[in-house]
Amino acid sequence: MDNMADRIIILDTTLRDGEQSPGATLNVDEKLTIARSLARLGVDIIEAGFPFASPGDFEAVQQVAKTVGTESGPVICGLARAIKNDIKAAAEALKPAAKARIHTFISTSDIHLKYQLKKSRSEVLAIAEEMVAYAKSFVDDVEFSPMDAGRSDSEYLYQVLERAIAAGATTINIPDTVGYTTPTEFGELIGGIKANVPNIDKAIISVHGHNDLGLAVANFLEAIKNGARQLECTINGIGERAGNTALEEVVMALVVRRQYFNPFLGRNPESTEPLTNIDTKQIYKTSRLVSNLTGIGVQPNKAIVGANAFAHESGIHQDGVLKNKLTYEIMDAQSIGLTDNQIILGKHSGRNAFRSRLQELGYQLSETELNKAFIRFKDTADKKKEITDWDLEAIVNDEIQQAPELFRLELVQVSCGDRAKPTATVTIRTPEGEELTDAAIGTGPVDAVYKAINRVVKVPNELIEFSVQSVTAGIDAIGEVTIRLRYQDRVYSGHAANTDIITASARAYIGALNRLYGAGLKHKTKQTV
Ligand code: KIV
Ligand code: ZN
Repeated sequence: MDNMADRIIILDTTLRDGEQSPGATLNVDEKLTIARSLARLGVDIIEAGFPFASPGDFEAVQQVAKTVGTESGPVICGLARAIKNDIKAAAEALKPAAKARIHTFISTSDIHLKYQLKKSRSEVLAIAEEMVAYAKSFVDDVEFSPMDAGRSDSEYLYQVLERAIAAGATTINIPDTVGYTTPTEFGELIGGIKANVPNIDKAIISVHGHNDLGLAVANFLEAIKNGARQLECTINGIGERAGNTALEEVVMALVVRRQYFNPFLGRNPESTEPLTNIDTKQIYKTSRLVSNLTGIGVQPNKAIVGANAFAHESGIHQDGVLKNKLTYEIMDAQSIGLTDNQIILGKHSGRNAFRSRLQELGYQLSETELNKAFIRFKDTADKKKEITDWDLEAIVNDEIQQAPELFRLELVQVSCGDRAKPTATVTIRTPEGEELTDAAIGTGPVDAVYKAINRVVKVPNELIEFSVQSVTAGIDAIGEVTIRLRYQDRVYSGHAANTDIITASARAYIGALNRLYGAGLKHKTKQTV
């Protein structure tokens, strides 16, 4: 990657900034699954986590570095505050990666300096320089971020960036940490950096945005026009507060409006060379994976990946699309992999066909995972005639996501109807290996199941979200249930898929309770940015 990149570099931070969304906590296996999917998507850099934050984060970055950070794979990046121990932890976690990057940061806005860091501008300037040099003693590829750059004094910002580049930063990342800037301002900020930082040609200019005013994508597009060549994004735009810049939105803007953006990268407007390395056909799949594993649903009207993004409801629009798609569609659903939903398998399909289709879809399961998933597949195929790729993904994601299995659902049974009081019986195996059965009456069957589970598990919590979505059309469709629980200001999610939505609801609830219970067991304290 040279400093004068003639294409747009994509750094995905779903596993770091995205994971800071309330309730998005992912375990190591889930992070690995997402990392593999990001590699297939073609991101240039995966920011895999913040190794100093917790032993779990350290392990996740190390595992991603080991398994996805191969010579032909993406660069693996670890975040570190401008503090020696953070940088050391990032360097250690990244060791197995063929291409490693340390991303270190310190705030530069007066408001952060005064109230958060309690340091002067000159102290921060010296720390930035010293810590970039320290990171450089471990890896060649060092990214530096002046946090809250969007609200920093520009003259001071230029000085900090010049010193960071002189100390060895090869990428300087400009974060709009609080999502405050407007597109014109953000573009001017990048243009100002390009014009006023004397050694700027020795580094790639990157941008990092939050969506508090819904301007994150627009800000990035202006930044590109003014010289930014790396974009930091997350899948589905998940992240702190209103989220980060959505990868799928900014990438598709560069695909659909390539002719408009080509000249800003010194290309002929008609050039057909893609502006990013992203394989857009992987977008939809990656979006669903991230949504399933984090438990953060995608709003139906969300650009690119929302359920309605390619649906035409109005008669006039439908009429136009039938006559010629271009009348109301600016991009093809196939370009994001939306219609690659082939019916491949059925109840007569064998283990080899199942394994090879999963491999084609990019899943690499261990023998144990494959066995478990195959049993689920056969069970589903008995109930559902045609198994699509989306069904397969739902089954596999469901299997991958069930760890840690502290409480295990052994049985769930309900009786309900318009004359009956919804009643549920559950049998649960506790972490101590005891099998307990209890029953409860509820306002509906799911409520009854949750009350019965609560009677056994006895983990206090508040249910804050429950949603059911069908994976495909048809009465025999697999239902996906996502739930979110709150306990003492922390949110825990659970997700499960089954043709029986009561079973899926029970499994999703147990999944979330296991996360809550597991977090309590570990007394995990995690540092976030
Ligand atoms: O939003 C932000 O400023 C960040 C930095 C750590 C880059 O996430
Ligand atoms: Zn951020």
